[in-house]
Amino acid sequence: MSAPATPPGKATPPGTATPPGTGTPSGNGTRPSSAALSPAPPVAMVVFGASGDLTARKILPALARLADRGVLDNGFTIIGVARTEWSDQEFRDQVAAATPDAGPRWRELTSRFAYITGEYDHPNTFDLLKSRLAEADRVDGTAGNRLYYLATIPSVFGLVAGALAKHGCSGPGEGGSFARLVVEKPFGRDLDSALTLNQQLHGAFDESQIYRIDHYMGKETVQNVLALRFANAIFEPIWNRRYVEQVQVTVAESIGVEHRGGFYETAGALRDIVQNHVMQVLALTLMEAPTSTDPDRVRDEKVKLLRAIDIPTPDEAVDKSVRGQYLAGTVDDQAVVGYRQEPDVAADSQIETYLALRLRVENWRWAGVPVYVRTGKRLPARVTEVALTFRQVPFLLFDRRTSRDLRPNSLILRIQPDEGVSLEFGAKVPGERFHLRSVAMDFSYAEEFAGSDAADGYERLLHDAMVGDATLFIRSDEVEQAWRIVDPYLVAWSEPGAGLHFYPAGTWGPHMADLLVERSGDEWRNPEIDLHLPGRPTPLTQ
Ligand code: BG6
Repeated sequence: MSAPATPPGKATPPGTATPPGTGTPSGNGTRPSSAALSPAPPVAMVVFGASGDLTARKILPALARLADRGVLDNGFTIIGVARTEWSDQEFRDQVAAATPDAGPRWRELTSRFAYITGEYDHPNTFDLLKSRLAEADRVDGTAGNRLYYLATIPSVFGLVAGALAKHGCSGPGEGGSFARLVVEKPFGRDLDSALTLNQQLHGAFDESQIYRIDHYMGKETVQNVLALRFANAIFEPIWNRRYVEQVQVTVAESIGVEHRGGFYETAGALRDIVQNHVMQVLALTLMEAPTSTDPDRVRDEKVKLLRAIDIPTPDEAVDKSVRGQYLAGTVDDQAVVGYRQEPDVAADSQIETYLALRLRVENWRWAGVPVYVRTGKRLPARVTEVALTFRQVPFLLFDRRTSRDLRPNSLILRIQPDEGVSLEFGAKVPGERFHLRSVAMDFSYAEEFAGSDAADGYERLLHDAMVGDATLFIRSDEVEQAWRIVDPYLVAWSEPGAGLHFYPAGTWGPHMADLLVERSGDEWRNPEIDLHLPGRPTPLTQ
């Protein structure tokens, strides 16, 4: 996004990030439909947790795409580390199985991938890793550069980082210019554990070497919030309390917990979605303009915004939140079981699969504007959006009967699945009578950038970690502040009898969540209906 952040005392990394707006021309020859990623430098990527689900589902496919797009250097290799007993060849077979559609470029690179079977707390693992890295530099041309990726269970993040430092692996190898550590979510399970984890990581790596991933930051539409707000003159003047009446963030999923019941029982919607994805989206949407696209200038503004979000007392937290859990119901015409009947879920589980919050942002821009957040599994549709609803006109000329289909102006940032931006405003319905209703002006990514080869979230983030652009990664102070905001809810809910409201799968959450907004005279948008404004061509589908 901007010039790469270089750790103090380190040489400038060979690659640079793509400046905004530098794209390869598309078929029409004038307007770019996708922006090329800059070439990545040579690097040995060490994936801890290499036999796991995340590696197979996300990391390898993203790397394969980067290879086939010509982004990976000839001096790229992977050293997988995990407890599963595999040989190098078995690892390569797993890589091939995880990337069945990959092209020749990836296939060529995979033939050199190596694997270490080892415990994360055993010195042998790291001695072996050290010699494998030296070999990769010698044989594969990885040039002393290191990218460590923690895709393990979170409880060993600190351990692995510490062991890397202890074995002299936290800096670049001979002739190298960088060693970076990519850390997956969840980053802690509350404020205390996040602080401890940051301390452990900082004991081993400098903050400038640490890249905390939130895959939402890799989404094109999340990044587009920056473009919309700061590359256009017309939105910023009305982006404040004088014009905006309320903000709603929705992260709705129609899927349940799938095969992740065991994990979800330790998480719940607050830890799984709100502490990370929602806070990131809110920070970008509500922050002040950064002074440049330098990673730290952008992240400074995000932290400032997070610091302005009111931290409730546990009592206030109860009052301003509604937790729900799905019961059996129907989603997409399929009968589905309730959360407590999912595999690996306790029959009396108190974990929330739905959460609605009312937040306050206490600064000059947003004071008094309610910020409503809701997220849930087994809701009627998959929709992630941010909706800014504007204040009504001071005096409505038209009588109530003719304007009953008129809603307040809204600007909807549609993050997924129908990516784009909509502006809803009132229009006269053709005919002799003066009848008004809301219509939408739509920008659709799919239509505007048809055929685009834009990188998906992981692809983009892996690329940025390789070239040293930390803009889209979460800094330690951001992650800590996000925990400070959500911690009181965790405290409040740990009390016996903390409310949990049930909702049938396939509905928009518990009724209590409606009351949370109705108390202030507001209501939730219904993305199914609201996106179905008459005349809107794209039906909302899963
Ligand atoms: C993950 C959560 O971080 O995000 C999952 O652990 C959730 O529970 C997923 O399903 C949602 O991501 P996306 O990109 O599908 O919105």
